[in-house]
Amino acid sequence: MPVKISARNIYKNYGAVEALRGVSVDVHEGEIHAICGDNGAGKSTLIKILAGVEQPDRGEIMIDGEPKRFDSPSASLRAGLATIHQDLAVAPEMSIYQNIFMGAELTRSVLGLRLLDKARMRREAVGYMSQLNGAITNMNSKVNALSGGQRQAVAICRALRWNANVVILDEPTAALGVRETEQVLGLIRSLKANGKTVILISHAMKDIAAVADRISILRIGENQITLTGGDLTADALSHYILSGEASRVH
Ligand SMILES: Nc1ncnc2c1ncn2[C@@H]1O[C@H](COP(=O)(O)OP(=O)(O)OP(=O)(O)O)[C@@H](O)[C@H]1O
Ligand SMILES: [Mg+2]
Repeated sequence: MPVKISARNIYKNYGAVEALRGVSVDVHEGEIHAICGDNGAGKSTLIKILAGVEQPDRGEIMIDGEPKRFDSPSASLRAGLATIHQDLAVAPEMSIYQNIFMGAELTRSVLGLRLLDKARMRREAVGYMSQLNGAITNMNSKVNALSGGQRQAVAICRALRWNANVVILDEPTAALGVRETEQVLGLIRSLKANGKTVILISHAMKDIAAVADRISILRIGENQITLTGGDLTADALSHYILSGEASRVH
């Protein structure tokens, strides 16, 4: 598969803190690529750079082989990358469809007035949701009536709504129970089945091993190793993160 996103030799300092010291990651089109590493490894910093929230001091981001610079979150979104941050930023008092279309509401014109096209938003929301979770059919439900896993589905639908072909999820299962975690892993697999490229940040080794095609481990702002194939197990992952080893003889 061609390389969809290439982060090349990325450096980022916060004052005296060297958060990224020459990190490079290639994400292939259509894969689920996990980014792991201990606290402070630089995972969120890398994601914020891809999401246009932070800018790198040095290094290059290539999308489909073209150099890009994301000066804002909307620039990243326009390039087809949608990031779902850990806090989700869903509005619990609002309905599912209102959350999906937040900031990009559909309207229709009636006698020269622009009115919200609620029927069309509900209809399209059902379409997005059915790609992920066929059990959620009432788009008028308030988000605060949903489980954590279902809320994650609403946030992902918002990404689909932006026509993103890359979905970046920061710790999507961190606050979830066993059943909800399974649900979210299912959502991630559905994204892949629908042709999306997925970047997943997580501390949950078992979850990562269950869905990832490749895993890049960062260590104190640098690349440690990228795991594929037979090394995609929770045991191998913990081994590398705990030992800091860059390779292991089998
Ligand atoms: N806004 C900031 N100002 C100063 N230092 C920061 C800032 N954001 C991150 N850092 C520092 O940069 C380093 C990398 O942080 P980052 O949040 O990218 O790590 P992480 O891998 O996401 O860690 P965690 O697993 O704890 O979320 C850490 O030493 C952190 O303290
Ligand atoms: Mg983080």
